Amino acid sequence: MDRISDFRSHKLPITNLKSAKKLVIAIDGPAGAGKSTLAARLAQKLGYINLESGAMYRALALKALASKVSLDDEAALELLAGQSRIELRPEADGNRVLLDGRDVSHRIREQDVTEAASRLSVHPRVRAWMVARQREMGAQGGIIMEGRDIGTKVFPDADIKIFLDAAPEVRGDRRFRQTPQANLPPEAVIAELRERDRRDRTRAASPLVPAKDALIIDSTGMTIDEVIAQAGAMIAARQKQRAATD
Ligand code: DC
Repeated sequence: MDRISDFRSHKLPITNLKSAKKLVIAIDGPAGAGKSTLAARLAQKLGYINLESGAMYRALALKALASKVSLDDEAALELLAGQSRIELRPEADGNRVLLDGRDVSHRIREQDVTEAASRLSVHPRVRAWMVARQREMGAQGGIIMEGRDIGTKVFPDADIKIFLDAAPEVRGDRRFRQTPQANLPPEAVIAELRERDRRDRTRAASPLVPAKDALIIDSTGMTIDEVIAQAGAMIAARQKQRAATD
């Protein structure tokens, strides 16, 4: 059976959603749950754009590393953010990421940036800068944004909120197969992922929690088609409801 890590080769079983009203769809959840792939596939089918908010934290983290700004210095990081241009270019299988005009899509997936992004994302003023940019990007609707605080903070009034979760071992395994780190065994990838989870869930500013009105999908034992079918059914129902009331 195909699993989430095989998302990219699948066709969506959802039809006739494209012409309906343009919604804002928030997908949150921990790393490795399959958010990016779900967002990309839904966006393709709906004719929406998918925005990976985590890539923005990663891009700023890369700039902080390159500029030797301490990941603990909130004021300096906020200043650095203000001097940065971070662009997300949605493509069929994810986002291309430009930092001050330079394509950093691959570089930001490397281990040092992953770790730095996790540390940088605890700072409330950095988060406030990110949230403001993300709201601008989503202002027109017709977007699927994925991250950790999209349904709770960035778009608390989002039309659809999905919280995609999975057991840590499954997420670690998927992450390892997606981006095998040359010098990290799978156990180390899982340990690192657990540490990032802990930081995400326990930080004071916008911790990772499902929004009260989110549909929670635990993809641990599910195929990608099952995840998409659940999400798609919810979107179709909401579109129908909106069409009836608007
Ligand atoms: O989704 P990702 O792994 O690319 O995210 C990178 C880091 O950014 C991750 O450690 C959590 C953080 N992040 C966040 O705090 N809020 C978001 N909306 C998205 C990502």
